[in-house]
Amino acid sequence: TFQIGVPEKGLVLLVGTSGAGKSTFARRLFGPTQVVSSDTCRAMVADDENDLAATPDAFDLLHHLVGIRLRRGLLTVVDATNVQRTARASFIKVAKDNDVLVDAVVLDVPQEIAVERTLARDDRDFGAAVIRRQHADLQRSLKKLRKEGFRKVHHLRGVDAIDAATVRTER
Ligand code: GTP
Ligand code: MG
Repeated sequence: TFQIGVPEKGLVLLVGTSGAGKSTFARRLFGPTQVVSSDTCRAMVADDENDLAATPDAFDLLHHLVGIRLRRGLLTVVDATNVQRTARASFIKVAKDNDVLVDAVVLDVPQEIAVERTLARDDRDFGAAVIRRQHADLQRSLKKLRKEGFRKVHHLRGVDAIDAATVRTER
């Protein structure tokens, strides 16, 4: 097993393409109320889950929700792709504004696996091109991730490393 230490009252950003296994990982290792997701927020501000115009409002809600939880001293896990630097920067700012630490957990799976899993899902209607773009964004991000303001970057390389991971909180 590989133990990931995360800040007790802080923020954890999951980082990975669609199909990387973020929601599965979050469900296994954290409590259901500790995980906030862009999908859930989108569902709360749009009746059509493919309504792309709802994205800014969904993230507005997600940032607000994260800020409230952090202000209240609650460990919070963000389940969103976070493959773009600007997306991560907005959450790092919410953590800083609330004087808490933020870790990144990168779920780095081979692109073919993420594509294969996503094509097999009936709750995802996008194709391989979207995942290839996310994968490229992530690979480009990896080099500079450690300079973005995270306390720690936990880089889980491959499906086995993700499956073997456990979590402990650090004060
Ligand atoms: P998005 O929400 O689209 O960004 O994807 P995600 O990163 O949350 O992936 P999710 O956890 O939903 O997993 C995608 C698919 O892969 C699901 O059908 C899961 O059942 C499957 N999956 C996730 N983790 C594993 C794993 O460790 N092993 C296997 N075999 N399948 C997995
Ligand atoms: Mg998910």
